[in-house]
Amino acid sequence: MTVVEQLEIIEEIKRLKTEKHAVILAHNYQVPDVQDCADFVGDSLGLSHAAAKTDADLIVFCGVHFMAETASIICPEKKVLLPDLDAGCSLAATINAEQLRQWKAQHPNAVVVSYVNTTAEVKAESDYCCTSTNAVKVVQAIPPDKEILFLPDMFLGAYVERVTGRKMHIWMGECHVHAGIRPQDVEAAREAHPDAELLVHPECGCSTSCMYLQAAGALNGFKTQIFSTEGMVRYAKESSGREFIVATEVGILHRMEKEAPGKKFYPANENAICEYMKKITLEKVLRSLREEIYEIRVPEPTASKARRAIERMLAIV
Ligand code: 13P
Ligand code: SF4
Repeated sequence: MTVVEQLEIIEEIKRLKTEKHAVILAHNYQVPDVQDCADFVGDSLGLSHAAAKTDADLIVFCGVHFMAETASIICPEKKVLLPDLDAGCSLAATINAEQLRQWKAQHPNAVVVSYVNTTAEVKAESDYCCTSTNAVKVVQAIPPDKEILFLPDMFLGAYVERVTGRKMHIWMGECHVHAGIRPQDVEAAREAHPDAELLVHPECGCSTSCMYLQAAGALNGFKTQIFSTEGMVRYAKESSGREFIVATEVGILHRMEKEAPGKKFYPANENAICEYMKKITLEKVLRSLREEIYEIRVPEPTASKARRAIERMLAIV
């Protein structure tokens, strides 16, 4: 696409947005062009809040399927569009509602906490939803004598267990992108950038080892923080540090470089690319707005049941 063509697409997106009273929400892992044309860019929690607050009639959700479902569950009166139906999530695909029902049957008194990266059907079977920003707070809000089923991410589960000191039953799911960021990637990045701080997403395959190494004092004062994607951006802006190794999907670097100019950001693994997030392009955003495709609507009673779990989460944070 030439620069002129790109500018024309952006202009047309702006025009249609005004005409249709629409808003564009984009996740931090979206390609730079899409992030730059969005009204709001953020993490899963921020996007849920943005969807809940907007007075737009139409939401074009630039993210993956479960995120658009969540927006539709929160705002059933709005039309929510996902520009490409193939934008799925390998983590959400690790558990379905039937598997969760069977797991619950084995632990009939347990409270179910589902990460937002789940289908609406799985959320409908859950007591609480959580995101990487608030998973610790959600678990801390559950009475200590209650058994907890935490799903579907095992690395996030291990992180929450460690921070809260609370033993949970954890589903052995993982995201192929984050699980692919291994401890050896972090080691190599630390060697290459000894003055950089390390920012790690709790879904990462390296998060557990980073936590243990840090607790054991083995990181030799190497400053390490475990954050959601939004937490990473905020920290990078506020820290006096100048260099950061970033252990999550590489799309986040665009926002970090934009919002913390002059600082340096290095991916822990430059191949950590979510092909689902990258399905959304500027052209598809335009087509989505123009043709009002693809509408994501969660049927009842699934929507109402899933909304209960999401609202419980939103009430905690
Ligand atoms: P957050 O943006 O909420 O940290 O989640 C990361 C993620 O993997 C979304 O798919
Ligand atoms: Fe799902 Fe992983 Fe992609 Fe996030 S990065 S959308 S968890 S596959």
